[in-house]
Amino acid sequence: MTCMIKLDKVSKKYGTGVFALSEINFSVDKGEFVFLVGPTGSGKTTIFRLLIRDLLPSTGSITVADFDIVKLPHGKIPTLRKKIGFVFQDLKLLLDQTIFENIALSLEIAKVPKADIKKRVEEALEKVGIINHKDKFPIQLSGGELQRAAIARALVLSPDIVLADEPTGNLDLETSWEIVKLLESINEKGTTIIMATHNTEIVKNLSKRVIGLDKGRLVRDEPPSRKASGVK
Ligand SMILES: Nc1ncnc2c1ncn2[C@@H]1O[C@H](COP(=O)(O)OP(=O)(O)OP(=O)(O)O)[C@@H](O)[C@H]1O
Ligand SMILES: [Mg+2]
Repeated sequence: MTCMIKLDKVSKKYGTGVFALSEINFSVDKGEFVFLVGPTGSGKTTIFRLLIRDLLPSTGSITVADFDIVKLPHGKIPTLRKKIGFVFQDLKLLLDQTIFENIALSLEIAKVPKADIKKRVEEALEKVGIINHKDKFPIQLSGGELQRAAIARALVLSPDIVLADEPTGNLDLETSWEIVKLLESINEKGTTIIMATHNTEIVKNLSKRVIGLDKGRLVRDEPPSRKASGVK
């Protein structure tokens, strides 16, 4: 198995003095699907921010897709971020841009040739099932549709890893299942996925690895259980 993500004794203390993570160790192989669970404030988003090198750990080492995060030169951060699709907890869609434009922006930042942009945005929107909404503004979409738009933006650069931070946060159970099914289908094509969630119903019903945090400590790391079918 190829290791995609590795955290070794990672601790993070914020400038305010808050210890968000203490001595976290885990690794994730290429192609895995992992649920990251834990109460609010337990450190899930902090782990994601470390993985995309938005933050540096206070101590410990982190490897993501062969990049040593702590030693990564600033100039290499864009190369790292092309390998990771991040679905933000608060989506971060630009309200004055259409769905198409929001997703095209990621490609423009990554300096994808103009001629390829339209096709790639449309492919990503097809994949998440909202191509018919491409010319609408975020305010004109439902919560589930917005979440799909955020996932399309995370996918558009064909990343090796997708980190989805609470992608079912404000959705009803049925829409939540649709979003999780979508992430599963992306995972089946080989993308490594970590999904942070509070949704115990979904975690219980799917046979996936579960990593649990509590007050910044790793308190649970269970392999996919055999009892769940993974089908719903
Ligand atoms: N930028 C920051 N500065 C200072 N403290 C922070 C910052 N971001 C998060 N924290 C603190 O670090 C701890 C972990 O926060 P984090 O956002 O990682 O939790 P979380 O598990 O994602 O929570 P939630 O489920 O509510 O999204 C919390 O105590 C939080 O208040
Ligand atoms: Mg969070």
